[in-house]
Amino acid sequence: MNLDTLKEEIRARADIVDVIGRVVPLKRAGSAIKGLCPFHQEKTPSFNVDPKKQSYYCFGCHAGGDVYNFVMEYEKVDFMTAMERLAQQTGVPFEYDRDGSGYTGPKKDRLYAIHEQVCTWFEETLHRAPEGDSGRRYVEKRRLGDGVVKEFRVGYSIDSFDALLKRTREAGFSDEEIEASGLFGIREDPSPGRDRFYDRFRGRLMFPIRDEMGRVIGFSGRVLTPEQAKAKYVNSPETVLFKKSRVLYGIDLARKAISNQRQALLCEGQLDVIRCHEAGLTHAVAAQGTAVTEEHALIFKRYADEVILLLDSDTAGVKAALKSAEILLASGLTVRVASLPEGEDPDSMVIHKGPEALKDIVRAAESFVLFQIKTLMAKEPEINETSRMRVIRAVVETIGLAPEAAHREELLQQAAKCLGVREEALRQDVRPAAPRPGGTRQAPAAPPSPPKQGRTAVRIDRLPPHEDLFLELLCFHPELETTARPFLLPRHLQHAESRGILETLYGLDELSTPRIQDAFREHPSRSRIAEILVRKRQLSGEKALAPERALQDIIMLLREQALKRQQEALQVQLAQVKGDKAADLETEIWQLTLVARKLRECRMSGDWISATKLLAFYD
Ligand code: CTP
Ligand code: MN
Repeated sequence: MNLDTLKEEIRARADIVDVIGRVVPLKRAGSAIKGLCPFHQEKTPSFNVDPKKQSYYCFGCHAGGDVYNFVMEYEKVDFMTAMERLAQQTGVPFEYDRDGSGYTGPKKDRLYAIHEQVCTWFEETLHRAPEGDSGRRYVEKRRLGDGVVKEFRVGYSIDSFDALLKRTREAGFSDEEIEASGLFGIREDPSPGRDRFYDRFRGRLMFPIRDEMGRVIGFSGRVLTPEQAKAKYVNSPETVLFKKSRVLYGIDLARKAISNQRQALLCEGQLDVIRCHEAGLTHAVAAQGTAVTEEHALIFKRYADEVILLLDSDTAGVKAALKSAEILLASGLTVRVASLPEGEDPDSMVIHKGPEALKDIVRAAESFVLFQIKTLMAKEPEINETSRMRVIRAVVETIGLAPEAAHREELLQQAAKCLGVREEALRQDVRPAAPRPGGTRQAPAAPPSPPKQGRTAVRIDRLPPHEDLFLELLCFHPELETTARPFLLPRHLQHAESRGILETLYGLDELSTPRIQDAFREHPSRSRIAEILVRKRQLSGEKALAPERALQDIIMLLREQALKRQQEALQVQLAQVKGDKAADLETEIWQLTLVARKLRECRMSGDWISATKLLAFYD
C-alpha cells in the first residue's frame, strides 16, 4: 500500500473525537465538542473538536489541524510515528512499502482502479449498450428510480465468459491484478488455447459495493430471472480490498445521515437498502449476507448510538435479528427492531404500500428486549412457569451483554414491565458479561450463569455477583487486603449489605477464618458470611485467574460500576438545574465518563498499574 492510501485509510478509521477524547476530557455542548486545551494553560474550554470536519481548533492558542496533527503535537512525534500509533489504535495493518517490495500482491491502487473501471463499464452497459437491454427491462420491472440507480451505480454484466476479461486486459491490467481483483473465476486446469480466467459475473444486475470513502471494493450480482437457475446472488470473494466481515452496503451514502441522526437502519439486502434510500430513509445500510460482526458494530459505533433492525419477518430474518442484536448490544449500541408484515421485505413494502408505510414501520420500531420477549414467548407451545423462566433467563442473559450499567438498567425496566416481574427480581440475575481479554471483542459468549441456589433462578436476596465474589476473595485470601483496601472502599459498593460486610472486614486486625467468624457472630450479615465461608474456595472457570489478578480485575470492574452510578446520580441532578450549575454538572459527568472509559481500557488490557494511578486520583 502506498503512503497516501494508508494515510487516508487510517484517517477514515480514526475518529478524531475518540482519539482526542482518550487524552483530553471533552464534553458535548450542543453540536460542538469542547475541552480544556492540552496545548496551553486555561480555565475555560476553548479547545474545539469538530467531528464533521474531523479537525480540532483552539481559539485560545490557535493550535489546530487534523487527527495526525493532534497526535504529532500531543505526543511530540513525527508524522510517521503518529501514523503508526493511529494505525495501531484503529487496527489498520501498518504495511506500507517505500519501494514496492515486501507485499507481493498487486498494489491496492491498481485493485481500486480495476474496480472503478469495471463499475463504469457495468453502468455503461446498463444505460447504453445493446447487450444491456434485459438489464434495463429488469430495472424497470423492479421499479428502480433513475436517481437511485445512478447514486448506487447499479450496472449490468454482459452474459459472456470473456467480455469483461478482454476489456480489462485491453485497459492494461496484468494477469496478477486480474487474479487478485476477485472479479474473475480461475480455471483449475485450462485446456490448451483456453484462458485461465473467465468472467465471474455474467448476465447479472450489478451492485457495486463501496467502502466508507466511496471506493468500489467488490460487487454483488443478481440474476434477472429465477429460471437462470443459478445462485440468486453471486458476490466478490474475499480479496485484499473486500472483507465481508467489514462491508456495509450503502455506508458511503448513508454515513452522513447516520451521524446526523445518530441512528442507523440495518436491512438485509442491496435492494432493500436502495429502496429505503429512495423512500427517504437515507441512513439504511446492509451487511453482506446476514451476519453482523463485531467489526460492523465498531463502524456503527463511530457514527451512531442506535441501530434499528429492519429485517424480513420470516424465520431467517428473525433469527438474524436476534443474533445481530446481541452483537450490537454487546458493543454498547441501543437496538430496536422494526417488524415488517408477514411476507414483506422493505422493498416489497414500498412497492405494495408506499414509502410512508415503510417509514411508519421504522418509526414504530420497538426496543430489542421487547421484541425478544415476544418472539421467545411466541415460540413456547404453552405459557407456564417453566416456559416463562426459559424466556426470563434468555432475556436476562441478553441484558447482561450491554456493557453500560445505565443501559442494563433501562433494559431491565422494560423487561420487567413486559414480563410482569418485579424489576428488583430481574436485577439480581443480570450479570455484566465477563470482560473480554485484551480488549478485543469477540462474538459475545453467554454470560456465565450465576450459581443456582434453591429451586428457582430468580433469587431475590443475592448480593450483586461481583460484590459477592470480591468479598469471597477477601475472606479466603487475607494477604490481598493490602491490594484491596486503598482502592476499594465500602462506599464503592452498591449493595448496602456488601458495604456493611466490607466495613467489618476492613475493621479486623487479621482476616483469618476464625477471626471473621468471630466478628460476624452477632452481625446482621452472619448468615451471608457463613454461606461465603462454606464455599471452600470454589474459585473456578472465569475466576481461575491467580487470586491477585482476579481481585484486581474485580476492583477495576466495581470501581467502574461505582463511577457509572455516580454519573447516573449526577444525571438526575442535572435534570433539575439550569445554567452554570448545569454546565458544571455536565462537565463533571463527562469527566466521570472518561475515567470510567479509561478504567475499562485498563481492565480490558489487564493494566492494574495504570488503574491504580487513575483510582488514586479520582477516589
Ligand atoms: N444474498 C447472497 N447470496 C444469495 C442470496 C442472498 O449474498 N444467494 C444476500 C444478498 O446480499 C441479498 C441479501 O442476501 O441482497 C438478501 O437476500 P434476499 O432477501 O434473497 O434478496 P433480496 O435482497 O430481497 O432481493 P430480491 O428482492 O431481488 O429478491
Ligand atoms: Mn426483496
